[in-house]
Amino acid sequence: MQIKSITPHERFLTIDWVEGGTDNFHYVWLRDHLPDTTFFDTDTGERLIDAHTYLFDVAPEDVSSDINGDLEITWPGADQPSCYLAHWLYANRYTNDTLAARDAFIPSPEAWPYQSFDEVPRYDYAKIFDEPQAGFELLHNFRTYGFAFIDGAPAAVGVVENFANWLGYVREVVFGPVRDIRSEPNYDNVAFTSRDVKPHIDGSNYIYPYEVQFLHCIENGAEGGDSDVVDGFAVAEKLKAVDPAAFDVLTRVKVAYRIGAGEHDLRHSAPVIGLDREGELHIIRFSNQQRRVLSVPFDDVEAFYAAYGLFSQMINAPENKMHFRFAPGEVLMFNNHRILHARDAFKPDTGRRHMQLATADMDMVDSRLRLLVRQLGRNDDLDLVLPREP
Ligand SMILES: [Fe+2]
Repeated sequence: MQIKSITPHERFLTIDWVEGGTDNFHYVWLRDHLPDTTFFDTDTGERLIDAHTYLFDVAPEDVSSDINGDLEITWPGADQPSCYLAHWLYANRYTNDTLAARDAFIPSPEAWPYQSFDEVPRYDYAKIFDEPQAGFELLHNFRTYGFAFIDGAPAAVGVVENFANWLGYVREVVFGPVRDIRSEPNYDNVAFTSRDVKPHIDGSNYIYPYEVQFLHCIENGAEGGDSDVVDGFAVAEKLKAVDPAAFDVLTRVKVAYRIGAGEHDLRHSAPVIGLDREGELHIIRFSNQQRRVLSVPFDDVEAFYAAYGLFSQMINAPENKMHFRFAPGEVLMFNNHRILHARDAFKPDTGRRHMQLATADMDMVDSRLRLLVRQLGRNDDLDLVLPREP
């Protein structure tokens, strides 16, 4: 990219590009991105100067383009102009279109296109760690639909750690880094019995429940024990459509959750439907089995139960569940903030059932996605703070 002409205004400048197009940059934005090694640490890209020391009364003394078509600005008090490389400016321009496209390879949630579990794509375990395209497709699909399904993994311990380590690290929770799920004589959670487990998220009792879960089937030889997944976001959207007032109640009334966790007392109260600052669905904190005493204002009690009963009915409705049976060597990777999981009862005296579960942070999914995008050569404009020559 090269600058064709610059038009200074009172608080911003306009650049016409030789290649076509026009972009505006505020002086305060340019001052905040001073391409100078006294301003940014060259190794880490971290800022070195306190913002309040330079953000006020930002007006350049001179603005021009140099012989390479880059931008030069002389700031008050500077001995020489600062050079803003044209390609860096272009990559980091902040038009509405470019803002919308930033980090676009991390997709927004979409409704499931599947009618049944047979239609769910399978990702080959052997390829994911070695082939960037296979890893990218898995994570892209996971981010879009809230879950992804992997087959061909060994029917042995160690698989869930491999996934978490591929992303970065295991997020250890109160149960430890990896949890074995099988019928156990001493249990603190219904998952460790042979009873059925209704649709729920894990970690409802955490201030910030864990996001990414890998559920790996090692053995599934017992009668029963089939699984279900429910798209909590989709059911919440349906609730909002049929009964907006019920939806509002569930975004507002705080529900207490607690789980058995040995010596620990892990509990938290929060609405069943959590929204982010933009009002988009952020988490479906639904775990009826871990719900504790309802402690809400008198006037909320009946409204809450009416809304919660309707939501529970919808979550458990067959048309909102996707039913499947795990085979040994299969792994379900799911967004625990969106996807509810369930299990039928099984008969432990008819065979062995053994699953392993590990947890990771969504940050590490996105981190791996960025690295894969870079490997695949699709990374043109990740926001480098110090511009490099092309
Ligand atoms: Fe669970």
